[in-house]
Amino acid sequence: MKNDTLLFLSYLLKYLKHLYKPFSLGITFAILSSFLTGLGTWSIKPIFNYVFVEKHYEIFKFIPFYLILIFSLNGLFSLLQAYYMKSVSTGIINRIRLDLFKKFLSLPYSRLIKERTGQTISRVINDTSQIEPLLGESSQILFKETLTVVVLLFVAFYQRWDLTLIALITLPAIVYGTKYLGTKTRKTRRLTQASTGELTHRMGEILQGIREIKISASKDLMLKFFAKELERFYRLSLKVTKYRESSKSLVDLMTGFGAALLIGYGGSLVIKGALTPGAFLSLLTAILLIFNPIRKLSRAYTGLKEAQGAWSRIEEVFHLEEEKGGTLKAHPPQKGFEFREVSFRYDSNLPYALYRVNLYLPAQKMIALVGPSGAGKSTLISLLPRFYDPEEGEILLDGVNLKEFDLESLRGLFGMVWQEPFLFNLSIWDNLILVKPEATFEEVREACRAAQALDFIESLPKGFDTVLGEEGLSLSGGQKQRLALARVFLKRPPIIILDEATSQLDTLTERAIEAALNELRGKHTLIVIAHRLSTITRADKIVLLDRGRVVAEGNHEELLLKSPLYRELYQTFLREK
Ligand SMILES: Nc1ncnc2c1ncn2[C@@H]1O[C@H](COP(=O)(O)OP(=O)(O)O)[C@@H](O)[C@H]1O
Ligand SMILES: [Mg+2]
Repeated sequence: MKNDTLLFLSYLLKYLKHLYKPFSLGITFAILSSFLTGLGTWSIKPIFNYVFVEKHYEIFKFIPFYLILIFSLNGLFSLLQAYYMKSVSTGIINRIRLDLFKKFLSLPYSRLIKERTGQTISRVINDTSQIEPLLGESSQILFKETLTVVVLLFVAFYQRWDLTLIALITLPAIVYGTKYLGTKTRKTRRLTQASTGELTHRMGEILQGIREIKISASKDLMLKFFAKELERFYRLSLKVTKYRESSKSLVDLMTGFGAALLIGYGGSLVIKGALTPGAFLSLLTAILLIFNPIRKLSRAYTGLKEAQGAWSRIEEVFHLEEEKGGTLKAHPPQKGFEFREVSFRYDSNLPYALYRVNLYLPAQKMIALVGPSGAGKSTLISLLPRFYDPEEGEILLDGVNLKEFDLESLRGLFGMVWQEPFLFNLSIWDNLILVKPEATFEEVREACRAAQALDFIESLPKGFDTVLGEEGLSLSGGQKQRLALARVFLKRPPIIILDEATSQLDTLTERAIEAALNELRGKHTLIVIAHRLSTITRADKIVLLDRGRVVAEGNHEELLLKSPLYRELYQTFLREK
């Protein structure tokens, strides 16, 4: 348990090295402030004895000034140390956030989609912000108050070590109790954070599915889900509060005990004349003052444990394995892709989405993938840019396993358009040049013309500067597909993959786009998941998939002859036409 805390602190210390300036300032002011606290306490004895016992009343008038000086300096220093320590803790949190964000970007796609969106957001935003105040407060207190305790202990021991020991006899109980409650706090805080993540997730889901909810009268059901999680969160939060407050009360109780012992025993010594009243008062002050920082320390410890609970969720992410490529630079295909006995499933408890696939996808040709829905077409193409890796078998590009290639250069070869393309909440222009930042205006226009997108873009009042998703603007599925296609025409990547990319377009528009794509034939490797007959019949090679297996390959005439399933599909295509 102790090791855990040390590990946590050592992790935070690593972040500290970028923030040594505010940190050292904070520490300096903390030391100065503790020193003044010690000085103020220590000077009670000589002042009391000198002024009152030895009756040097002429000094008396200086005492208030002396006290004001000490108190105001102390106030100033503790303000400065709080400021600098806060800037350290906020700085640390920001760095953790950035690292976490970076980490998420470099996780394998397969891992990312398993994570619940709300939980991911919550880890970056909520968990880190949970740590911030606790960390800020706790680290401040830990440094400042530990020093104060040491200084005050020194003063107390110096006065009467035996009496000090008596007063501190309850210390072990405080330490043990605080530790015990701290562990409980850490565990509960972790659950609280997970619950926050779940709430974030639910909220996002509700907004995404709002149409389903509105039309299906499932409002009450959703409300019930949400209320249940809120209730859980409420109970967990109360539990954390309970532990935190118990820890405070424990210290108070023990303080009372210590003070009572000291007053009882020390007071009797004064009455017997074995102790001067000045020494007794100074000792009593020191001891009573010690309990205040001890109380703060115990709270800081609980705070640290809470931060650790949130931290454990963050740490989990840092321990996830990042996606890894090889060192070879990938070049545009010369020969093509080869699948060798490739099997893949999305999870070990799911059926195979691809099973023992052997396949050749020739370079610079147009290949059509066909097959019933759920056959594995989209899965197959996701393996090419390594969104997923085969569970068994291997995929080669020009004879080299995909894993040997540097990921960025491999993915740079591709341009992909999905059935539901994703566009960012940016201007149309920015969405397009994402794939080619150096593109000129003419190039972008040309690409849009090829993708049949230019007319509708230019009919918008702000044209290319229109920001998507703002001022009520949302594009139709077909418009999105055309923008995504424009990206492909702009980038002109060596490998172009279209996964039902024109499914939401009318036939005329689709024909025009096909004509534009035709110009790329022979120079680019085109892989098309087709849903219309004209595309399929034009392909150099057709691959027929069914239930994760390649059931036939060849051109249109060949497949008509040898595959009953293909003939069946052909009939439906004909009917739809
Ligand atoms: N992200 C996913 N997680 C789990 N299963 C999936 C996922 N995507 C697809 N599948 C499953 O894999 C199989 C093949 O799907 P897919 O490749 O999308 O088929 P197609 O594109 O041919 O319609 C289907 O059974 C589908 O349910
Ligand atoms: Mg699909």
